Amino acid sequence: MRPVIIAANWKMHTTPADAADLATTIAGRTNVGDVVRVICPPFVCLAAVRAALAASPAGQGVGVGAQNIHHELSGAFTGEIGAPMLVGLADWVIVGHSERRRDAGETDELIGAKLRRALEVGLRPILCVGEQLAEREAGTAEAVVGAQLAGSLAGFAEDPGALAAAGLVVAYEPIWAIGTGRTARGVDAAAMAEAIRAAISGLGPGFAALAPDLPVLYGGSVTTASAGEFLAEPAIDGALVGGASLKIEEMAGIVARAGLTAAARRAAAGARG
Ligand code: 13P
Repeated sequence: MRPVIIAANWKMHTTPADAADLATTIAGRTNVGDVVRVICPPFVCLAAVRAALAASPAGQGVGVGAQNIHHELSGAFTGEIGAPMLVGLADWVIVGHSERRRDAGETDELIGAKLRRALEVGLRPILCVGEQLAEREAGTAEAVVGAQLAGSLAGFAEDPGALAAAGLVVAYEPIWAIGTGRTARGVDAAAMAEAIRAAISGLGPGFAALAPDLPVLYGGSVTTASAGEFLAEPAIDGALVGGASLKIEEMAGIVARAGLTAAARRAAAGARG
């Protein structure tokens, strides 16, 4: 049974002063059984969010994630953050977000190096993939995403089991749906989630072993109103939420909907014995 995960990507929003309050309030309003919750604030807010969640009874079950890491562990990289610096501050890390592919020129190879750094320090990675609108319209979305996966996971050919051990999560975020108010259709996102598992399976036997249990999230304008469309799909295991994740009522609604999916999965697993 795959977990149901709701991850909040706060992007470049909040300050240390307001992030702590927002995180604890969201934690208190989303305390739904069986849903894995993660909040990814900006780097400078990690310590405040971490401390606030640890100090609040409702915050205990909420994971904290970074939005990025450097592809080297340390070195002369002015202004960058290496994975070892996050130990004790974060449990999760987003890698390969399309905004970083776009704005920082991140390549699949570089993203693969970031994945390796995440694993080296015990951060649980959320690997983002997704196609441009023109690619979807040209019918190449699955090929594009497959190439992103092959490129970023190539460095794990010798030890794909390390990805499973680290609890790799993939987030399918069609670029045309991010911050646009436009969402993919649930059926299309579900088909892509299965295509992602198939593409990873195709990378080799060790990858095939991890693919069935790989959580795949959908991201792109997820709100309380649209969450059900994705969370009703058995192939989709949650959401990576951007803009709506800064809004308490939205997060409450999205996690409540995720709780229904988690409960249904638990009941189905129980019935199967
Ligand atoms: P929005 O939910 O704002 O579209 O952002 C999605 C996203 O990029 C999450 O990582």
